[in-house]
Amino acid sequence: MALRNIRTDEDPVLRKRARTVAKINQRIEILLEDMAETMYAAPGLGLAAPQVGILKRVIVYDAGDGIVEMINPVITDSEDEQVEVEGCLSVPGKYGRVRRPALITVVYQDRNGNELTKTARELEAVVICHETDHLDGILFTDKVEEYLTDVEIEEMHSSGESDEEIL
Ligand code: NI
Repeated sequence: MALRNIRTDEDPVLRKRARTVAKINQRIEILLEDMAETMYAAPGLGLAAPQVGILKRVIVYDAGDGIVEMINPVITDSEDEQVEVEGCLSVPGKYGRVRRPALITVVYQDRNGNELTKTARELEAVVICHETDHLDGILFTDKVEEYLTDVEIEEMHSSGESDEEIL
């Protein structure tokens, strides 16, 4: 496994639409492993392949229950709303409140090519929405309703919660 370089700010790769993975081969498996290592090292709760410069529809995240890998994720259903603070490994130093669905259904493939369906809520729903947005070149800054002030960011860092918001 290897750490990959996280693309930030105005890197144009972050604004491109990622391509569907047609065949899950060893390159995809290595990508998944490198993405997990890179995400945990950052640290962040989630990472999408475009953030490491790979325009493929692959995401990884850990919302507290261990690593989840999703290939070609599609959100097929969403209900209700929640507004939570988000940050992003590709947008260092910024945090803001973003409105997302409170409950989603996502269809995806695992690394063995099995098609799976997952229902997610709360933080896990936020992470999946944030990461799948990355696959379409969308950043949380496109959807933010209100940025945190410097004072709010400082409070978040001193409470130790800031690592929990970086997706
Ligand atoms: Ni992000």
